[in-house]
Amino acid sequence: MNSVASSALSPETDSADSPSSSSSNPSRYGYSSSTGHFAGLMHGDSATMLKSLPDDVFNVAVTSPPYFWVRDYGYDGQLGHEESVETYIDALMEVFDEVKRTLHPEGVFFLNIGDTYYSGNGQPHGSDPKCSSRNFLRRKVRPVDVGGWDIPKKSMIGVPWKVAFAMQERGWTLRSSIIWNRCNSFVEPTARDRPYRQYEFVFMFAKSRFYSFDRSKLVEEDVWNIPIERNRRANHNAAFPSELVRRCIEVGSPPNGHVLDPFVGSGTTVLTSLLNHRNVVGIDMSGDYIDYVQGVVEAEGFESAAWNAVTDGLKRPSALWDDWAGNRNNFRKPGTKKKQE
Ligand SMILES: C[S@@+](CC[C@H](N)C(=O)[O-])C[C@H]1O[C@@H](n2cnc3c(N)ncnc32)[C@H](O)[C@@H]1O
Repeated sequence: MNSVASSALSPETDSADSPSSSSSNPSRYGYSSSTGHFAGLMHGDSATMLKSLPDDVFNVAVTSPPYFWVRDYGYDGQLGHEESVETYIDALMEVFDEVKRTLHPEGVFFLNIGDTYYSGNGQPHGSDPKCSSRNFLRRKVRPVDVGGWDIPKKSMIGVPWKVAFAMQERGWTLRSSIIWNRCNSFVEPTARDRPYRQYEFVFMFAKSRFYSFDRSKLVEEDVWNIPIERNRRANHNAAFPSELVRRCIEVGSPPNGHVLDPFVGSGTTVLTSLLNHRNVVGIDMSGDYIDYVQGVVEAEGFESAAWNAVTDGLKRPSALWDDWAGNRNNFRKPGTKKKQE
């Protein structure tokens, strides 16, 4: 794994945040552009790194966390390798509590999350010739391969809805369970007696009942037909498509608004935000991915900036916030006329 410290930029390091192993050098990288936009990248455990970001600033968060025992990102401390679904959800909630704190009171959070099967037969899952990061786990007996669970073997666990219910219990308002129809999804070589999984959920949560949302930017209702992008950035094979991110940020933030992705991976959310004139903060525990995303940000013409440029920028809402059609103060019930001033 490349070390982020080898980057040409000078990172701010904070040894107090230091988790173990390959991510022992958590760092923060600020960037700004001549257009006044900014980006922040944080290398480290997201539950920890988020704690240093200000309250109530992001218009929209969009992310896809590691799913429960589906992949191996090759370092200690990664989320997704907990002993039980309950401890996996607890770990996610630690991150999402921080997402809630940093989200603007009228902000929205789009969470893409997939399921896992309980095999319970004491055997590794079997190989997947198409995906090396899955193969590692398929040679190993994972907690979902060990018997003794209270559901029948071969069951889908229902992880996405368990996560959604845990979010509700913590005060999130669940507003939509969007189906992401991955219209060009792969066949599943081990799924001989069930349909292949073609869709995943994108849950839309709000921090409060009254939030901002630009309905005019919705291009489909709650079934989004978006193909998987086959070009693997940074060799990451769990990237979501930029079109999915684009939809979330367009409905959830004004131009020049602020976007967060706490599991940024190959940087789809970062690049899509910058290309759509939003400011963005991305976090990942993999030094390789953060290295890669730094290159992406620089290729967009952004230059190294002090971390304060990011935190100060986050505290200033977009100048277009008041006029933005999605600002809830500008909402009108369908069929009603705008009040005369
Ligand atoms: C599903 S991938 C995200 C992919 C991303 N949406 C993209 O388009 O490339 C999940 C990411 O979470 C990161 N990750 C795992 N555990 C983490 C943790 N505790 N803190 C921060 N990042 C973590 C992994 O390195 C991986 O890049």
